[in-house]
Amino acid sequence: MAVIHFAPLQGYTDSVYREAHARIFGGVDAYYTPFVRIEKGGFRNKDLRDIARDGSERAHVVPQLIASTPDEFRLIARLFQEHGYREADINLGCPFPMQVRAHRGSGLLPYPEEAGSLLRTIEEFPDISFSVKTRLGWERADESFALLSLLNKLPLKHITLHPRLGIQQYKGAIDWEGFARFYEGCELPLYYNGDVAGLEAIRGVKERFPGLAGIMLGRGLLASPWLAAECVSGQLLTADERRDKLVLFHASLMDEYAARLEGGEHQLLAKMKTIWDYLLPEADKRLRKKVLKSASLTSYQSAVKELLSL
Ligand SMILES: Cc1cc2nc3c(=O)[nH]c(=O)nc-3n(C[C@H](O)[C@H](O)[C@H](O)COP(=O)(O)O)c2cc1C
Repeated sequence: MAVIHFAPLQGYTDSVYREAHARIFGGVDAYYTPFVRIEKGGFRNKDLRDIARDGSERAHVVPQLIASTPDEFRLIARLFQEHGYREADINLGCPFPMQVRAHRGSGLLPYPEEAGSLLRTIEEFPDISFSVKTRLGWERADESFALLSLLNKLPLKHITLHPRLGIQQYKGAIDWEGFARFYEGCELPLYYNGDVAGLEAIRGVKERFPGLAGIMLGRGLLASPWLAAECVSGQLLTADERRDKLVLFHASLMDEYAARLEGGEHQLLAKMKTIWDYLLPEADKRLRKKVLKSASLTSYQSAVKELLSL
């Protein structure tokens, strides 16, 4: 048994995806939204749509913010409050160059004073329970160790640590020693995140770090959406069960995106193809290619049918 959180993945884990996943696969304790940011002084409509809710949601959603200054932080935290959220996650790990240059995400890690004043803004929002998602540093692991004494003093719900540097983006070696050092010094509940793609890997992380509060899965769950449910129940789904759920999941995504996207067939096709960036990496290469190359929704649907052997 492990507590599993679904990582935020910009472009993938939007509200449609989160809801369909929670309804059909489940096993996830919390789903994080891709980060909400201030752009040209305001919010993006896309972000506003993604955090909107009507009370009928199945997924337990935690909205995430990225900010470089207390003013930006306040604007976004107030938005979350207006939408009735009582939890929020602070992104201190994003390595995207645009964000890093603006001293956001992992771009803030080399600047402990700026990071400190941003983080202390949580004290102005006592009705929101904040967590932090971070990395070991932008270019040196000791950036996060320097921040740890401040983090330990803040009333945070938990920290999620991805043990890479910002300059590595999402590739290259995981720094297990760095994670171990952070784990030793961290007095708050800690979640591990990074490259965990199967039950064996989940077990391995839990055994090595028994004091963890849980594990956050990203690409591993996009690849095998049943992974959290299997981990939590301790029971593997049969190949048929997995396929039945995948068929439902795929149909649900298609229906919901069709209802929301206004750009017609072309936009829907492009959106559906992105699911296959990560889903079922072990599937037959030729059939995957057929899905990704399909030029119409009809050919896409028949390629998916073939891939799922329906
Ligand atoms: C395409 C993509 C988009 C991402 N978007 C976000 C994001 O909005 N917020 C965030 O905190 N992390 C984001 N991440 C990082 C993931 O949440 C996660 O930390 C990373 O993928 C490592 O975990 P994994 O190996 O389990 O995928 C993103 C990663 C990818 C690959």
